[in-house]
Amino acid sequence: MAKLDVLVLAGDGIGPEVTTEALKVLELACKRGSISLELSHDLFGGCSIDAHGEPITQAVLDRSRKADAVLLGACGGPKWDNLATDKRPEKGLLRLREHMEVYANLRPAKLFKALADASPLKAERAAGFDFVVVRELVGGLYFGKPRYVQGEPGKRVGANTMTYTEAEIVRIGRVGFETARRRKKKLCSVDKANVLEVMGLWRDVMVQLGKEYPDVALCHLYVDNAAMQLILRPTDFDVLVMENMFGDILSDLSAAATGSIGLLPSAALGDKLALYEPIHGSAPDIAGQNKANPLAAIMTIAMLLEHTAKRSDLAAAVNAAVEDVLDAGVRTGDIAKRGEPVVGTREMGEAALKAVAKRLG
Ligand code: IPM
Ligand code: MG
Repeated sequence: MAKLDVLVLAGDGIGPEVTTEALKVLELACKRGSISLELSHDLFGGCSIDAHGEPITQAVLDRSRKADAVLLGACGGPKWDNLATDKRPEKGLLRLREHMEVYANLRPAKLFKALADASPLKAERAAGFDFVVVRELVGGLYFGKPRYVQGEPGKRVGANTMTYTEAEIVRIGRVGFETARRRKKKLCSVDKANVLEVMGLWRDVMVQLGKEYPDVALCHLYVDNAAMQLILRPTDFDVLVMENMFGDILSDLSAAATGSIGLLPSAALGDKLALYEPIHGSAPDIAGQNKANPLAAIMTIAMLLEHTAKRSDLAAAVNAAVEDVLDAGVRTGDIAKRGEPVVGTREMGEAALKAVAKRLG
């Protein structure tokens, strides 16, 4: 029997609630798919700061490299907002990504048919959009050096640096091309080659790499224009590949276009390791109230089944089950129309679990 060893870091805020629902789906899918699942849990984010004084301990970092996959809930909250940048829960996430060297972050965004009018975009523009943002995750502006704030008060200078080596651009570029190959064979490389030297290099490397993928149609957009085009003609896009910070921004824009950030899963992949997390944050305003939408966490399970367990059959069943519950009109508050009845996190989780059971026969 195949084995799957998952380290669960449910984190803060709504993280634990949505993760509980997602794990029920993972357990069921593994059972039906004859996968022997082993789960272990640890602290991460604010709860780790409370227990250990740091957002992620060395012990958890070490464990993260031994598991087949790491599943994250969410991290952060007002309680830890006043800490220095270096001590905040978010720093734990950045250290984890860096430590696992998960350089390719796949963030699929699609507009579900049943939720067409949840999108702030007009239906005639947005109907049926379905694209993936491939965000470089361990380099670029987030990690480049030098980085500092220095000098005397009143004369301080702050700096961060956007750096990429050719090798880093090639490896993320390949993920972009390979992802496009499995889809509609269209890749849009997003850069700022008109202003930034590093982005000139990015474009140059992408053009070269494109010669190895003649079956994929490659185009280039400056990041400001890309933001505009994603809103004007979202259905034209298939796969977009971009720098870390650009990906952070454009993936939130994409999330908004789907109608709710509660609907976006993500997978961060390295050459060997994988980190899975829903894109939404810890939503402290609704935490612990059975209000959060667990569907992003559940679709994140589908990504884990696809990329780590290599079971696209199980992944497809989970994704289809999510569509089933949406088609059946089950709604958490974030995706309900005014006046529509609303269910809680547990009820949505249960509906999804039932739909997965049905799909898997
Ligand atoms: C994301 C988040 C993180 C990021 C934060 C929480 C550090 O916004 O995953 O998009 O900026 O990468
Ligand atoms: Mg973000």
